[in-house]
Amino acid sequence: MRINAVLLAAGQGTRMRSKLPKVLHPLLGKPMIHYAVEAAQQVTGQKPVVVVGHGAQAIQQALGDSARFVYQEPQLGTGHAVLQAEPLLKNEADFILVTYADMPLLTPDTLQLIINTQQQHSGPLTMLTVVADDPHGFGRIVRDEAGRVTAIVEEAQATPEQRAIRELNASVYCFEARWLWEMLPRIPISPKGEYYLTDLIGMAVADGLEVQSQGLADAQEGIGINNRLHLAEAEALMRKRINHQWMLNGVTIVDPSSTYIETSVHIGMDTTIWPNTFLQGATVVGEACNLGPNTIVRNSQLGDRCTVFASILECAVVEDEVDIGPYAHLRSGTHLGRGVHIGNFGETKNSSLGPGTKMGHFSYIGDATIGPNVNIGAGTITCNFDGRQKNPTEIGEGAFIGSDTMLVAPVKIGVGARTGAGAVVTRDVPENTLAVGVPARAIRKLEKRG
Ligand code: UD1
Ligand code: CA
Repeated sequence: MRINAVLLAAGQGTRMRSKLPKVLHPLLGKPMIHYAVEAAQQVTGQKPVVVVGHGAQAIQQALGDSARFVYQEPQLGTGHAVLQAEPLLKNEADFILVTYADMPLLTPDTLQLIINTQQQHSGPLTMLTVVADDPHGFGRIVRDEAGRVTAIVEEAQATPEQRAIRELNASVYCFEARWLWEMLPRIPISPKGEYYLTDLIGMAVADGLEVQSQGLADAQEGIGINNRLHLAEAEALMRKRINHQWMLNGVTIVDPSSTYIETSVHIGMDTTIWPNTFLQGATVVGEACNLGPNTIVRNSQLGDRCTVFASILECAVVEDEVDIGPYAHLRSGTHLGRGVHIGNFGETKNSSLGPGTKMGHFSYIGDATIGPNVNIGAGTITCNFDGRQKNPTEIGEGAFIGSDTMLVAPVKIGVGARTGAGAVVTRDVPENTLAVGVPARAIRKLEKRG
C-alpha cells in the first residue's frame, strides 16, 4: 500500500494579525506546522506534500527538506488546493491523507485510525468527525435516517436545521487516490467562488458510493488554530499532554500547569521538576535530578542526580552529581565534570571545570580549562577579552584561587598553585606556588598536598 499526505497551508491566516505566516507561529518552541509534518511522516513513512501560497518562502525555509512543496496561486479553496498536489503524487500513492497544517494536536494514532478504516472499506474516502458544543465555523455532517453520511454542508450554505448539527468536519480525510484525482476537477464552484474539498462527500454519495466516518474521541485533538487565543489554548493542551507522559514515565512534576517541556526533551526516571521550569530544545536530563523552581535548561545535557536551582543553562554539558545555583548562568560550551558545584551568581562560557571543582560565589569563567578539585574563590574573574580577542585561561588540578582574583588571559595557573585574595594575575603561576598582589608575583613555594 502506497500512501502519502497532503497538508494545506496556503491560506493567509488573517485572524492571527501577524506578519508571520500563521503556520509558523511557534507552539512549545517550534513552528506549529512541524507537528503536522511529523505526524504525517510518521504514519505514511513519506515526506508530506505541503500546499503553500501566502508566506510560501518562509514556510519552505522553515521546513527545509522535511517536506515537499507545491504552490497554490490564486487560492481558490480547499479542493483546488489538494488538486495542486496531483502532479507530484499521481503515480506515487494509492491513498492520500489530507489535512491542515494548523492542527498541531492531531496525533499519529488518529491519522492511523483514519487510514485503517479506509483500507477496511470499499468506499472512496474516510473522514474524521468531531462532536462539539460550539459548531461555529465548521462544516456540518449531514446523515440520513439510517445514519449514513450524505454530505458536508459548509456553514455559509447551511439551513437553520443543519446549523444546529453538532457533528462537525474535522478536515482530516483519507482518499482512494485514483478516485480523488478523478473527482477533484469536477467540484463545482461555490457561491463564494471557491472549490470546496467538502463537496466530494456529496458527490460520492450521489454516485452511490459509501463514505466512511470516524469519530474523534478527544475533541481537543481537532483544534484548528485561527487566532492567538487558539494558539494559547493549543499550547496549554500540548504542554499538558507532554507533562502527563513524563509523569507516567516516572518523572515528578510538582505543578504541571507551570512546567514547560518541549517535545524534543528527554528526562530520566525519578527526576523532580519544580514550578516555572522550562526544558527546551535538544535537552537531555538524567535520573534523579532536581530541577527548579525558576529554571531554564536549553539544548543542554545533564547527568544523574544533578540539582539546578533557579538557574539558566544554555548549550551546556553537565556530568553526574553537579549542583548549580541559585542564579547561575551556564552559557554555550560549558562542560562541568562530576560533582562540580556552581553557586550564587556564577557565569561560565566555553569552559570546562574538572570533577569536584567548586565555584561558589560571584564568578565569571570564560574560555577556561580548569582541572579537578580546584577551588575558585568568591568574585574570581577570567579577564578573557583584551578588547580584540578572547584569550584562554588554564588552571591546574587542586589549585586554590583566592577571592576576587583577576586572571588576565592568556594565563596559566599551575597544579596546586594558590593566589592571594585580590590578586591580579598577569603572568603564569608555576605549580605549587603562591602568588599575591597587583600585579601578582610569586612569593613562595608551597608544600605539595598529599
Ligand atoms: C474547512 C472545511 C470545514 C471544516 C473546517 C475545519 C472546507 C470547504 N471546509 O473550513 O468543513 O469544518 O475546515 O477547520 O474545506 N487553504 C488552502 N488553500 C485554499 C483555501 C484554504 O491551502 O485555497 C488552507 C488554509 O490555509 C487552511 C485550510 O486550508 O489551513 C482551511 O481553509 P479555510 O478556508 O479556513 O476552511 P474553513 O473555513 O476552516
Ligand atoms: Ca480554518
